Amino acid sequence: MTANNQLYHSISLSLLLCLGLFAIQVTSRTLQDDSIIYEKHEQWMVHYGKVYKDLQERENRLKIFKENVNYIEASNNAGNNKLYKLGINQFADITNEEFIASRNKFKGHMCSSITKTSTFKYENASVPSTVDWRKKGAVTPVKNQGQCGCCWAFSAVAATEGIHKLSTGKLVSLSEQELVDCDTKGVDQGCEGGLMDDAFKFIIQNHGLHTEAQYPYQGVDGTCSANETSTPAATIAGYEDVPANNENALQKAVANQPISVAIDASGSDFQFYKSGVFTGSCGTQLDHGVTAVGYGISNDGTKYWLVKNSWGNDWGEEGYIRMQRSVDAAQGLCGIAMMASYPTA
Ligand SMILES: *[C@@H]1O[C@H](CO)[C@@H](O)[C@H](O)[C@H]1NC(C)=O
Ligand SMILES: *[C@@H]1O[C@H](CO)[C@@H](O)[C@H](O)[C@H]1NC(C)=O
Repeated sequence: MTANNQLYHSISLSLLLCLGLFAIQVTSRTLQDDSIIYEKHEQWMVHYGKVYKDLQERENRLKIFKENVNYIEASNNAGNNKLYKLGINQFADITNEEFIASRNKFKGHMCSSITKTSTFKYENASVPSTVDWRKKGAVTPVKNQGQCGCCWAFSAVAATEGIHKLSTGKLVSLSEQELVDCDTKGVDQGCEGGLMDDAFKFIIQNHGLHTEAQYPYQGVDGTCSANETSTPAATIAGYEDVPANNENALQKAVANQPISVAIDASGSDFQFYKSGVFTGSCGTQLDHGVTAVGYGISNDGTKYWLVKNSWGNDWGEEGYIRMQRSVDAAQGLCGIAMMASYPTA
């Protein structure tokens, strides 16, 4: 904690105490709740290294934090009908509007004008009852996109890391930043959004991607600085789309390799998802790119997709979410079956 931060802390604490003394009508119960939430926010700030620019900002954020904590607790105490729990995570001091604006930049609305590929090589594939590509060593540790809306790059890279491992036997962490900085001549626009299929197109034209170590993640738009004399670490031959609105087709694909999927991740429950099988609520306005790295059936019999996100380990189940599978809607939960695709070796 910085000295400044400490200072704001003592100022706002004494302010809180002063207000408390004058507001004699306020019950001690409310005061206690307020100091508990203040304490909780303080601990949260330390945990996430959060520093606010001034006292006003801190008070504003505390208010939002309190609303979010109330939302999370109400949801978790709502009874047994929810199969999933919410938790306080790095998004606890922002509103749902801010959450959507800063992270979910998958350009789903642009899809209709894009020609879909027609072949589906897994058309006749058999499907085991559970698949987890992490257990086969085909998934790198969970990454964190930070404030940059380049989910599309993380999704495409995770799928590329998967097919590279399956075709060469080597798991290599690849560069999202190279896509953010260099894949700028088409639809994809770095932190302002993009599409996984266009990332695959770029990777093919670029003859591959460099490693995460060679071209590390910065989380901001930069200028392309790929070293042209060094050979990319992994390449792909092509890419294909999974037939849309068909969870059975998606299952065949995921049975064979990690698959890029687009989802609607705009809900507050998605923002604060902690554990269990996520059953919604969400729509089908695709705004986030993630990677399906398996599927299975939970202890209570609920079928799920195992999905790798790019919001760090604190979010969800160590960075993953299990999303309900085989729902009534053909689009799948949150539209997961609408725009799935994968690179080919
Ligand atoms: C799937 O099986 C059908 C019928 O045998 C065949 O015509 C088709 O080519 C197969 N598809 C693929 C991708 O192998
Ligand atoms: C580019 O990569 C080559 C081979 O790895 C290395 O020798 C060279 O110093 C690099 N150049 C720059 C400008 O980083």
